[in-house]
Amino acid sequence: MVNLVSTFYFQCCSSTKSRCHKKGSFFFFAILSTISFILTCFLLYNTAYRGNVNNTNIYNVPAMTFDMVVDKFRNAKVKSEADILINATSWMKTETPILTLFTSWLHRQDKYVVQNRTVQNWRFFWPHIRPVLFTNDTELGDICRRQGWSILPLTHTAIDGVPVVKYMYLDAMRHFNSTFYGFANADILFNDGLVNTLLTIRKFTDIYRDPVLITGLRTNFNYKIPCNATDMKNISKVSEKGKLANPMSADYFITTRDYPWGKMEEIVIGRNQVDNWIIRFSQLEKIHVINSTPTVTALHQTTETGIFESGSKPNKFYNSILIKEIRKIKINTQQARVGCAEFVTNFMKHGHIQIMRQPLSKQC
Ligand SMILES: *[C@@H]1O[C@H](CO)[C@@H](O)[C@H](O)[C@H]1NC(C)=O
Ligand SMILES: *[C@@H]1O[C@H](CO)[C@@H](O)[C@H](O)[C@H]1NC(C)=O
Ligand SMILES: *[C@@H]1O[C@H](CO)[C@@H](O)[C@H](O)[C@H]1NC(C)=O
Ligand SMILES: *[C@@H]1O[C@H](CO)[C@@H](O)[C@H](O)[C@H]1NC(C)=O
Ligand SMILES: *[C@@H]1O[C@H](CO)[C@@H](O)[C@H](O)[C@H]1NC(C)=O
Ligand SMILES: *[C@@H]1O[C@H](CO)[C@@H](O)[C@H](O)[C@H]1NC(C)=O
Ligand SMILES: *[C@@H]1O[C@H](CO)[C@@H](O)[C@H](O)[C@H]1NC(C)=O
Repeated sequence: MVNLVSTFYFQCCSSTKSRCHKKGSFFFFAILSTISFILTCFLLYNTAYRGNVNNTNIYNVPAMTFDMVVDKFRNAKVKSEADILINATSWMKTETPILTLFTSWLHRQDKYVVQNRTVQNWRFFWPHIRPVLFTNDTELGDICRRQGWSILPLTHTAIDGVPVVKYMYLDAMRHFNSTFYGFANADILFNDGLVNTLLTIRKFTDIYRDPVLITGLRTNFNYKIPCNATDMKNISKVSEKGKLANPMSADYFITTRDYPWGKMEEIVIGRNQVDNWIIRFSQLEKIHVINSTPTVTALHQTTETGIFESGSKPNKFYNSILIKEIRKIKINTQQARVGCAEFVTNFMKHGHIQIMRQPLSKQC
């Protein structure tokens, strides 16, 4: 567009030569170029960040729940329940969901209600989301497999047997195909905003083909409040009673396949600053970080151990000590937070989702 304007100007000049040398024409030219430059930038920005991002909704996509898959094989007159399960799980492996969502937990009596809700909640999003539990506990693995979860062994653990984050991603990517891979804590319930947000972001990554990190804050609520984990309206209502978590934290980390997990330090889940370092690492690696808090409800079922659970465990500074040793830096939490992500998601009219540049404060 700038070229067009200047061509136009020079054509005018050659026909009326005397006027060209006047100062007024120069300013006229300068102003015209500036305006067209701004217009071009605006149009480019609009196409890049909004125009091509299609509006999507989970309800446009036909769902095949795990129960329906099981029924399908039951009707196919397969003999035992165990066979039905084997057939259903192997069929599920052929599907390509948008997200492989994984976690890990110990068999703990006091967390039963919480974990049962998570099992019901994550599998609700099949076939969009494939829930995966990392565990070597065969009994726990069997319970979850019957609920439509996939199970993977924990190949790399560090202090106190806690899983190393990067190997969960690398293992999940080796075993399953999906657009995105994400870790979330086992006490997080999502609403359908997660799938809708990812469908929108997929269109964005289709354009850019760059690594992306999608992360956000959780909403804390007392786990004793009754909550139906498979009723999206109920989850939204319960979240209105909850409280948004500390802005220095993040509770889920969703990345594309090309995210450089191989280069990541061997930080572990469930200890301080695992969230801050994943964000900071991404910023240093020039990866697009997207704050999805406005469009994803991530309900944290807070139990008696409280909201600062990672701070009460042994070796709580394991991650920050590791980063300090390797990188010789102290993680600046003011920078390493979702508020300093490059992009942010937002609802437009009719519940459609858009991705915008996030206004950044000085601390970022
Ligand atoms: C948006 O999605 C609709 C329905 O899937 C499709 O017909 C249309 O071509 C898409 N538009 C863009 C810009 O991708
Ligand atoms: C179900 O699994 C059995 C093995 O357990 C296999 O022989 C059979 O072909 C499978 N059936 C279907 C419909 O996939
Ligand atoms: C787990 O949740 C499901 C679905 O809400 C429920 O049917 C089941 O009874 C629960 N299990 C236990 C042991 O509470
Ligand atoms: C879990 O099992 C795998 C093999 O299936 C083994 O390599 C790994 O060391 C085990 N992890 C733990 C923490 O026991
Ligand atoms: C993932 O997809 C690729 C290409 O379609 C295929 O070659 C590969 O076998 C798939 N992997 C798994 C684990 O399904
Ligand atoms: C959510 O569902 C539970 C059980 O299904 C119910 O007891 C509770 O009142 C509901 N909460 C809201 C806010 O609707
Ligand atoms: C949870 O909500 C779903 C969908 O609204 C409903 O089918 C189911 O019966 C509810 N479960 C409980 C335990 O209230």
